[in-house]
Amino acid sequence: MQRTWTVETPNKIGETVKVNGWAHNVRVMGDKLVFVDLRDGSGLLQVVFYKPDLSPEMAEIVSGVKPEFVLEIEGEVKARGAKQLNPDLPTGTVELGAKSIKILNTCETPPFEINKDTKDINEELRLKYRYLDLRSERMHRNIWRRSSIVRFIREHLYSHHFTEIETPVLTKGTPEGAREFLVPSRLHKGKFYVLPQSPQQFKQLLMVGGMERYFQVAKCFRDEDQRGDRQPEFTQIDLEMSFVEREDVMGLIEGMLIELVKTHSPEKRIQAVPFPRMSYTDAMKNYGNDRPDIREDKNDPNLLAFCWVVDFPFFEKTEDGGWTFTHNPFSRAVPEHHEALMDKKDIGSILTSQYDIVLNGFEIGGGSIRNHEPMALQRVFEIMGFSLESIKAQFGHMLEAFTFGAPPHGGIALGFDRLIAILCNEPNIREVMAFPKTGDARDPMMDAPSDMPEKALMDVHIKKA
Ligand code: AMO
Repeated sequence: MQRTWTVETPNKIGETVKVNGWAHNVRVMGDKLVFVDLRDGSGLLQVVFYKPDLSPEMAEIVSGVKPEFVLEIEGEVKARGAKQLNPDLPTGTVELGAKSIKILNTCETPPFEINKDTKDINEELRLKYRYLDLRSERMHRNIWRRSSIVRFIREHLYSHHFTEIETPVLTKGTPEGAREFLVPSRLHKGKFYVLPQSPQQFKQLLMVGGMERYFQVAKCFRDEDQRGDRQPEFTQIDLEMSFVEREDVMGLIEGMLIELVKTHSPEKRIQAVPFPRMSYTDAMKNYGNDRPDIREDKNDPNLLAFCWVVDFPFFEKTEDGGWTFTHNPFSRAVPEHHEALMDKKDIGSILTSQYDIVLNGFEIGGGSIRNHEPMALQRVFEIMGFSLESIKAQFGHMLEAFTFGAPPHGGIALGFDRLIAILCNEPNIREVMAFPKTGDARDPMMDAPSDMPEKALMDVHIKKA
């Protein structure tokens, strides 16, 4: 018999079906009745075992069922009586009158209760047994929601003529501000790959490659200190578009987020549409930071206050009196300041085309229009004090690519984990990632990072200290 998902049972009253799943709860009522709430990927179903109706062998199996045992049950879907209806359960109009049961696997007593919210359980324990944590209802719902939102975003971008393209994970460092993870090369002694902190350079090179509209659900890696909204590896909805201006990228993202909330978080209300825009200077003056929380009511869990922050200074002073970029060295200046950048004049006043998108006080994305002419990009690095030689060594490939008919282009990356955490009302992005790291960047389940045998180190030309 084909397996039926528990969620389908209300449409099958009177039919005999086979269901599979885990024993969520087991309630023994005297010696005749056993109730098992069976949990599968679609939800819960109440299964009733009336022992006198079962064969002695089956009755014995039922007596041995414990929470989290893996079961296969056949039975008849029955309508519940008026008093037994459970409006909180999608299958609350029916129950399964079991005829037979098979135990497909047993389960040790779990280290924490799975049929309750696990949010107050010690995090080390939750992450060590993440596969059990994922069975809990809230975690299951969060991961499911994440999947349906990524699907929505993919379809939205496909319908706007984007192409999904994967970019390399073994690559070279890029100066975007974060410390990077290094991967030693075995074949090239003393050399290293770097894990990408973002696909920034590749996506720009895809524009040179004529792809016009790229997106990727991109894994990014940053060796930073952790916070609730930061992980060493996280996911960006990364995109880049040719022949666009700031308004085009911002408009696309704004439209997508409005549609996303409407279709996937209908319980939520967006405070203001179009999303308000604020200059960096005003954000600092009025909110004291560049990710202002503009919610009218911070206690309303269903209020979403998006806003854009624009007009950031391109450069800021370094400790040794030089200049460095504030956001992204590949950005273009705002059109009014392009000439100043080319002339390297009034450097402190040059504004970048960078736009950040903020939601309820969290930066959920950022992007810019880029410098597509090699000289303009070169100027940025000159202002930062790079010698011509080191510009060539580090960015020669970009400068050269831009000599081959690079189109004007711009893009953005959304911090997908942050967006989902807010939509799921979770205080921490770890609650919406299947396998996150601890606050100090460990994976207690896999025991990573871990020691390596000396031979493995020697292979990549590393000596143990
Ligand atoms: P940026 O560095 O601003 O831009 O990153 C884009 C968004 O990614 C999210 N984010 C993070 N989320 C979780 N953990 C982290 N450690 C982490 N770091 C960043 C944030 C952030 O807004 N290449 C540019 C984008 C572009 O210009 O197109 C970039 O990576 O939500």
